[in-house]
Parts: sequence; C-alpha cells; structure tokens
Amino acid sequence: MRNDDDVRVGLLGFGTVGQGLVQGINLQINNISCRLGVSLKIQRALVQDTKKKRAVGLPELTTDARDILEDPEIDIVVEVMGGEQPAYAYTKQALRQRKQVVTANKLLLALHGPELKELARRNGTGLLYEGSVLGGIPILRTIQRGLCGDRVEEVKGIFNSTTNFILTRMYDLGEDYWTVLRLAQEAGYAEADPSMDVSGLDAACKLVILCRECFDLDIYLKDVTMSGIEHLDKWQIALEKGQGRIPKLIACAKPQKTEIRVGVEWLPDTDLLSRVSGVQNALSLRTLLAGELFWSGPGAGGLATGGAVLADIMEAAERVLMERDIGFLQAGR
Ligand code: NAP
Ligand code: HSE
Repeated sequence: MRNDDDVRVGLLGFGTVGQGLVQGINLQINNISCRLGVSLKIQRALVQDTKKKRAVGLPELTTDARDILEDPEIDIVVEVMGGEQPAYAYTKQALRQRKQVVTANKLLLALHGPELKELARRNGTGLLYEGSVLGGIPILRTIQRGLCGDRVEEVKGIFNSTTNFILTRMYDLGEDYWTVLRLAQEAGYAEADPSMDVSGLDAACKLVILCRECFDLDIYLKDVTMSGIEHLDKWQIALEKGQGRIPKLIACAKPQKTEIRVGVEWLPDTDLLSRVSGVQNALSLRTLLAGELFWSGPGAGGLATGGAVLADIMEAAERVLMERDIGFLQAGR
C-alpha cells in the first residue's frame, strides 16, 4: 500500500548488486524503518531483459529509463548497472532532476567523478558511492570523517576480488586461470566484462577514487601505471611458490602523481597483504598521526556490496526527509 511518507528508490540495474541490495533491505526492514521513521520502498528497477530469471523478485521491472528518471515520486536513484554509458547520461539526468544519487560504479567515478560531484553540488543534491570501492569495507566514510584531522601519506592494498580469488586458487590449489575466472564470474565477483578485472583497470579505478579522497588530488586513470594478471600461468606461480613468494595484485599510491600504480607483486608470507585470500580485499593506509592502519573484508558479492549501497541510501534518505521537513516548515510560514 502506498504511504506518502515513504522514501522511494529507483534502481538502474538489478543484477548481482541490485538483488543483493534488495535482499539486504528485506533482512533489515524493521531496523531501517526504526532508524528513518518511515519505510524505504523500491519503486522499480531498470533492466535489459525483464524475462531473465532472478534470485530476488521486485514488483516492477522496466526497460525504459524514463520510468525511473522522470518519476517525480522517486527520491533516490541507485545506479548499479555498470559501464560508462548509458550510466553516465542517466546519472547526470538524475542529478539535474535533483534526485539523490547513489552509485557503485567505479569506472563511472574514475572517469567522471569530479564533474558529477560538481553537478550534484550545483543542483543542491547528493552523490554517494561507498559501494564503488572495496565492496563491504566501509572505507570512504572512515576516510572522510574518521581521518579528516589526519594526513594520508601512502595508500596500498588489494582492491580487486576477482583477481585475488583467481591468484589464491592458482596458488593454493594449482588450478588453471580460465577455470577459476569462470568460478569468479559464477559467484558474481567479476565485472560484466571481466577484462576490466584481470587487466588491473578495476583496481586502478578504485585507486583513483581513493587517491582523490585521501590526497585531494586531481587524478585520472591516465595517471596510473597499470598491469594485470593475464600474463601469469600456474607453472610460474608454482615455481615462485617454491621460493616462498606469493602473487598479489597490489594497488599503491603516494601523494605524488608519479607513484600511482597497479601490478602484480610477489610477497613473502610475512607481509600482511599476502594473507588476504579469495574474495577478500584489504587497504593499508600510512598516516601522519595514526601511523599504519589496516582494513580487510569482502571486496565483492551482492550482499556485501548491497550493504555498502544501503548505507548510502540511508544517508540519502535522511537528506530527503530533512528537505521535506524544511519544505513543510517553509509552507507553514
Ligand atoms: P550485473 O550483475 O551485470 O548487473 C547489471 C544490471 O544492470 C543488470 O540488471 C542489467 O540488466 C542492467 N543493465 C546493464 N546495462 C543496462 C542497460 N544498458 N540498460 C538497462 N539495464 C542495464 O552487475 P553488478 O555486478 O550488479 O555490478 C553493478 C555495478 O556495481 C557495476 O558498476 C560494478 O562495477 C559495481 N560493483 C559490483 C560489485 C560486485 O560484487 N558484483 C561490487 C562492487 C561494485 P539485465 O539483468 O536484464 O541484464
Ligand atoms: N569486479 C569487482 C572485483 C567487483 O572483483 O573486485 C567489486 O568491485
């Protein structure tokens, strides 16, 4: 039943993350209502194929983006479709309509993040993107709020789950690259185009986003020196294993633009990053005041990423409710 107080959400995309988000909302439905004081309602989702079998149902699917972008009842647009276009055009349209926008699309942010943030600012709305980096690890709010009085001097970590899953299974079980890549795709970790994962591009996008947050740097993908894992085979890994060396796709940056890179490093087992396995991601920050900080957790998967997207939706919903209160107060004057 319709309730005019509900906060209404439209999804652009209903794949791994979109469905994980809805599962998360269903699991947390009472907590969400208690916290917001109103319900969160998913109005409808944009997909390519409405007949596709999905793990979670929604009352309404559409193939027409206007059903979301032009619906005046929708307060928050959640972009979880991926890719540069049409996500870029839809995100700009949603911001111009003054809708709150939440996205998990790191490619979109790496390519157009500063412009989109400026567009949000000019339209007096918000753009939130916690789900775009490190999946379930809530790192952006930690950097923006928890470290606002500190200064980050180095960012280093494992930012891509697909490649970490592949490297872990090739190293531990001697499995073949293509077999494990297929498993990562079946688990929903890989991008729609997995070359984005194995080439290092996905990790590079996340590094760009984190560098902007940590160093306040005007940085783009062209500034990242990047290589991936496609050149590795299980024989080379077995050979290095004999020497006690563990392969990891490491992303690393310092505040100077010349030291921003993604590539395979062979780590000793004494290195904390060497013990981060499978779908797990990790981030190590060196800061002026706190020194060495380290986080790890699931970097991909529907529920973990859906949880990060849900945190952004909750924040966006609070802004929507605050604006409604201001509107009521102004109308009562
Ligand atoms: P996905 O499973 O491939 O889902 C994409 C969804 O978008 C599908 O529902 C698809 O429709 C829809 N879609 C794609 N292009 C469309 C178009 N042109 N028009 C209409 N609908 C379109 O992708 P995902 O894994 O959920 O990832 C979504 C975003 O989250 C990406 O930016 C990704 O990088 C990011 N992300 C993913 C993860 C993860 O663990 N998977 C983690 C963090 C961030 P159909 O279902 O009909 O094909
Ligand atoms: N394809 C990405 C990964 C999804 O494997 O890390 C999470 O961003």
